Order: sequence, then C-alpha cells, then structure tokens
Amino acid sequence: MSTTKTTVDCDVKDLALADIGKRRTEWAFQSMPVLQTIRKQFIKSQPLAGVRIAACLHVTTETANLMITLRDGGASIVLCGSNPLSTQDDVAATLVRDYGISVHAIKGESNDVYYKHINSAIDSKPMITMDDGCDLVHQLHTQRQDGLTDVIGGTEETTTGVIRLQAMAKEGVLRYPVIAINDAMTKHFFDNRYGTGQSTIDGILRATNILLAGCTFVVAGYGWCGRGLATRARGLGANVIVTEIDPIKAIEALMDGFRVMSMAEAAEIGDIFVTVTGNKSVIARDHFERMKSGAILCNSGHFNVEIDLETLGKMASSRKEVREFVEEFALRDGRRIYVLGEGRLINLASAEGHPASVMDMSFANQALSVQYVLANHDKIAKNVHSVPDDIDREVARLKLEAMSVKIDKLTPEQEKYLGSWSEGT
Ligand SMILES: NC(=O)c1ccc[n+]([C@@H]2O[C@H](COP(=O)([O-])OP(=O)(O)OC[C@H]3O[C@@H](n4cnc5c(N)ncnc54)[C@H](O)[C@@H]3O)[C@@H](O)[C@H]2O)c1
Repeated sequence: MSTTKTTVDCDVKDLALADIGKRRTEWAFQSMPVLQTIRKQFIKSQPLAGVRIAACLHVTTETANLMITLRDGGASIVLCGSNPLSTQDDVAATLVRDYGISVHAIKGESNDVYYKHINSAIDSKPMITMDDGCDLVHQLHTQRQDGLTDVIGGTEETTTGVIRLQAMAKEGVLRYPVIAINDAMTKHFFDNRYGTGQSTIDGILRATNILLAGCTFVVAGYGWCGRGLATRARGLGANVIVTEIDPIKAIEALMDGFRVMSMAEAAEIGDIFVTVTGNKSVIARDHFERMKSGAILCNSGHFNVEIDLETLGKMASSRKEVREFVEEFALRDGRRIYVLGEGRLINLASAEGHPASVMDMSFANQALSVQYVLANHDKIAKNVHSVPDDIDREVARLKLEAMSVKIDKLTPEQEKYLGSWSEGT
C-alpha cells in the first residue's frame, strides 16, 4: 500500500519509489523515437479524447511511456499488471504520482490480488482493452461480463494471448474485435526475437551470476523467442541444444547449427533449461528424473505452466530460496534442481524485460492500433485482426528514420518489372 497520499485511484507498493521510476522511465523514452513521434502527434491532434482504456500489461518503463503517450492523446487509463511478478514498483509509483495515471499492480502480488487488480481496471468501464496474455479479456468474458457494455475493441500484445483470442473467436464467444499486435512484423520479428533473446539471458544472469561459456544450454521451442535466445546463448559461448515438436522448426534449428534432440535426451546433459513454447508441461516428471544435480530451470514463455512445478514440488523432500529468484528443490535421491523466478517469465521476474528500443516498435503498433480500432470498430468483425500493413510499415519507416538509415526506393522501371508477368528474359 502507498505511504504517500494521492487522489489518483491506485494500489501500488510505495509512492516514495516514484523518483527512481521517473528517472528510469525518462531514460527508456530516449530509446523510443517512434513513440516520441507518435506522442507529439497525439498531443496535437488528441485522437483519444474521452476514451477510457483498461490496460493489462507488464508494468515496465516502456509500458509507462506507452501509457503516458495514450494519456497525452486524451485517453483516461487504468493499468494493471499482466503477471504477478513483472511489475516494477518504482514505475507504478511514478505513473500515479507524476503522471496521474491509475495503476493497480504490485510486484509479487498473490493470484487473488492479481485478479483484484484486473477487476479494478474493469471497474473503470473501459471502451478499449489492451491486454498481454488475454487475462483481462478472459475475465471480461467470464466473471465480469458487466464490464463489456462500453467495450468497442481491443489490442493483444503477445503470442499466447493471440492464441487464446483465436480460440475464443473460433467458438464465437469473442464480443469485440481485437488487433493482434504480436502478429505485426515490426513486433514479433524484433521484440520476440531480439528482445526476449537478450532479456532472457539478462534475467538468468542477474538471478544466478553463472558463466554461460562452456555450459550446455537447452532451449525448448524454436519460435521467434527461441531463435533469439538460442543465438544469444551461443554468442556467449554456451553449447546450445534445441528441443521442438514442429519438424520444420527442428530442421531450421539444425541448419542454424544447433543440436536438436528430444527433451528426454537433453534432460540428461543440460546445465540450464529455458522454456519458450507457450505450451504446458514441456519439462515434466520424466525429465526431472533424468536431470543432473545442479540443473537450472527457467521459463520465458507467457505463463508459468511450461515447467511442471507442482510435480517437481512433490518429488522434493525440501525446498528453499538460495538467492533472490532462485529456489532449490532437494530431491529424495540427493539431487538438487534450481528453479528461477517461480517459473514465471524470467526476463521480467529478475530483470527489466525487453530493452526500450525494441519495445518502441511494439508499443508504436499498440498506440496506432488503438487509433485504428476507434476509427474502424463498427466496420470490422468481432474477431482477431492483423495490424494493418500500413501501420506496420509506417512503424518500420519511422524506426529507420530515427536510426538515420536510408534505404532504396523502387524505380518506375523496377515497379513495372515486378508487377508484370510477361517480362522474363
Ligand atoms: N518473455 C517475454 O517477454 C516474451 C515476449 C514475447 C513472447 N513471449 C511468450 O513466449 C512464448 C513463445 O512465443 P513465440 O513468439 O516464440 O511463439 P512461436 O509460436 O513463434 O514459438 C513457439 C515454439 O514452441 C514450439 N513448441 C510448442 N510446444 C513445444 C514443446 N512441448 N516442446 C518444444 N517446443 C514446443 C512450437 O512448435 C513453436 O516453434 C509465448 O508464450 C509468448 O507469449 C514472451
């Protein structure tokens, strides 16, 4: 609970942390030139005037800058966390104290408090939902249908959320259109690959301070996040093994130079295991039974179900925290297995999440997609929609411009050539 008084409706850890949060938020904004451009446009044209937004996102410095941008565009916002361990309490504090934004999120909150905070966001009678993982949308469609009255559309940030929304749309239960931010090229090509790749390593190192060079590093899932992670682990000198269930991704990993094998085989030789699949029980009893003593396990997929911690807990004779974010499971046969960050997204649990310069593009897509939903909600179906290509390309164009990188343009002759099927030789 806050120690300093505020008139803004909030539930944050301590408003006295706001000074640190403000400095960090401003630092991140320097690396978000695309969002800076959008903020300037929003301040001028007020496209979100009178719009109420409920946002369920990881409360990080980058998210803070997105929230401030939306506020500057005229929106009123209530922000809650999208994971009980990912909130940066100093950022929550500055958003409330310095920017007047309502935040309900505390790092380490229980599951009950997590949902209480989501309910607080729903209490604001949102017109737009902004979700990361679909918990807000799920809550609205199940426990809190009363909050659906004014909702005209939403956005979804991550792979797992998009998968859940597509399942809802397929069953015909999704009550409003949602834009799949994750599916924009300027999101998953960069955020998932380079952002998750780097920040997952950052999380592992901050939690453990281990040397990656020479260790056997197992990556479960060779999707966008897994590719980035495997490449970065190799760059630090680890021997990387990839596990997959998709034969095409498995061949890709092989041809990228990684060893590919089943998790059962990898379990016997791995020193560090990271799951990034969006699936459940990817590491389970059979694998725990084969692991070397000292094996380190963590997850960077959206939910904490990728490692079967319930079973590991049952296999353990005792468990204790040996460092912050490192829990030791002592197994009955004498082996010890270490789990980082309670099996939750390790890059957000023990580190700060993705670097701002990559979130710049993801959140530029968010801001522009909110504007798109407002203009088009009555013309698009209650379904999951891609980010319009012109938004995706505009984000890329602005990013290149900010990096002072010029690219070539098609000449009229080239345009004609590419558009014709008669020109061959
Ligand atoms: N940590 C973060 O900050 C962060 C950022 C972006 C995405 N995510 C999350 O990470 C997860 C992966 O996202 P992505 O964009 O890489 O998805 P993706 O769909 O591109 O890749 C997932 C891969 O996992 C593989 N897979 C599924 N089940 C498996 C199993 N049992 N064993 C091995 N491989 C398996 C799939 O075949 C696929 O190749 C999602 O939950 C997503 O929401 C996390």
